[in-house]
Amino acid sequence: ELKDNTIIIVFGASGDLAKKKTLPALFGLFRQGFLPRDVKIVGYARTKMDKVEFDKRATSYIKTPEGDSEFAGQVESFKNILTYVSGAYDDGAAFDNLNRHLEEIESKYQSKECNRLFYLALPPSVFIDVARNIKEHCYVTKGGVNRIIIEKPFGKDLESARELLSSVKQYWSEDETFRIDHYLGKEMVKNLLVLRFANVAMGAAWDKNSISNVQITFKEPFGTEGRGGYFDEFGMIRDVLQNHLLQVLSILTMERPVSFSAEDIRDEKVKVLRSIPPIERSDTLLGQYVSANGKPGYLDDETVPPNSVCPTFAATTLWIHNPRWEGVPFILKAGKALNEAKVEVRIQFKDVTQGIFKDISRNELVIRIQPSEAVYLKLNAKTPGLYTRAIPTEMDLTYKRRFTDAKIPEAYEALILDALRGDHSNFVRHDELDVAWKIFTPILHWIDGKNGSPPRPVPYPYGSRGPKELDTFIQKYGYKRSVEAYVWPVTNL
Ligand code: BG6
Repeated sequence: ELKDNTIIIVFGASGDLAKKKTLPALFGLFRQGFLPRDVKIVGYARTKMDKVEFDKRATSYIKTPEGDSEFAGQVESFKNILTYVSGAYDDGAAFDNLNRHLEEIESKYQSKECNRLFYLALPPSVFIDVARNIKEHCYVTKGGVNRIIIEKPFGKDLESARELLSSVKQYWSEDETFRIDHYLGKEMVKNLLVLRFANVAMGAAWDKNSISNVQITFKEPFGTEGRGGYFDEFGMIRDVLQNHLLQVLSILTMERPVSFSAEDIRDEKVKVLRSIPPIERSDTLLGQYVSANGKPGYLDDETVPPNSVCPTFAATTLWIHNPRWEGVPFILKAGKALNEAKVEVRIQFKDVTQGIFKDISRNELVIRIQPSEAVYLKLNAKTPGLYTRAIPTEMDLTYKRRFTDAKIPEAYEALILDALRGDHSNFVRHDELDVAWKIFTPILHWIDGKNGSPPRPVPYPYGSRGPKELDTFIQKYGYKRSVEAYVWPVTNL
């Protein structure tokens, strides 16, 4: 249920994340009537600007479809619920000032209850100051709830994450805290629960007896392009593997939760993650893109320190020590400046028993998270006609074809709505984060050069499939290419 008398306060309101994701998602919810009645959105950042300037920035990433006057009207009404307050992040008096602004809005409410949702679209350097200042200066105690949404990076390794977590915990309870991993808001990631647990046919094949290997792949066709300062401090593993891909892995491999409740789901996720030992160096392949086809290399980015050995590509193989998954390799791989944009899960089944068939392709179940959401199963069928020959084909659930009228929500829309409703299912619990860091911390320290000289990432050309060593890396874990060249026919629908 949504609570009336709610104010959403966006910190870092003039920054990139707020402009590109948070505010457009709030607009999306507003437009579809999913925000609480009479909601107000207050932006807060250091930059001094008036309302006109803030409104302009807040809506700069919202694209009005050509000639859609209704949509354009909604953008205008959205501006009516926006206000802006500027101030520093470490200054209590500035937060008192913000609080006065919030109280003024609340003074017009019919009932006494006030609810505040604080969204921190902020860099980690100011994170704790803001969590504290909100608690000390802007926390309402008149009935109603206070909630805080925070974004990664949650630390850089196990130790710093624990520090950060416990600093925030001094001021905010677990129940009030919503740690966003926006992959948990993606339609296809949410679909994993239904695919797995609402289908007997899937459930029966979901283990080491049927599955040979699993790949979870993230590919982006662009490099760091100006974001190198942030990226270089973190690298591909912290940016994508340790959070987004590991979240997908945990839902893909957890046991069936007792119910759909947040704690039941998160208990199972934590349990499976705890069965994964820290990643071995030998199960790791690191790459860094170099200039090609007129595109700059990573080291050509001016915001990147010269000679950086930060990986822009990483493949790591994880092993789950439980009866369901013992011996099945889970390859998580992610790269920037590759040949395409794609995020998918590829489950490759074992070879069919030899004998009547020879050289036959393996089944693969592909869950395509983006773009063009789809689930398809690569399946051998008899070539139609007067032969008895098998060819690889597919059973295909492509969303755009099957659900022609469905509008797939943006991940941030889904998650902000969950936070407004107080539903934690798709947010990261503190112990989940802790175990996620345990898995990655040893290789991260190695890559950071903490215990000796850091490994050199192998170069790969901008716009390529990644390091040329990748094919061998994947084959090492038993992945087999189709016997016959196979291309999924609806990729570009
Ligand atoms: C962010 C990373 O968390 O996720 C970015 O910091 C990455 O580097 C982004 O580009 C990808 O998100 P999406 O939703 O575009 O797949």
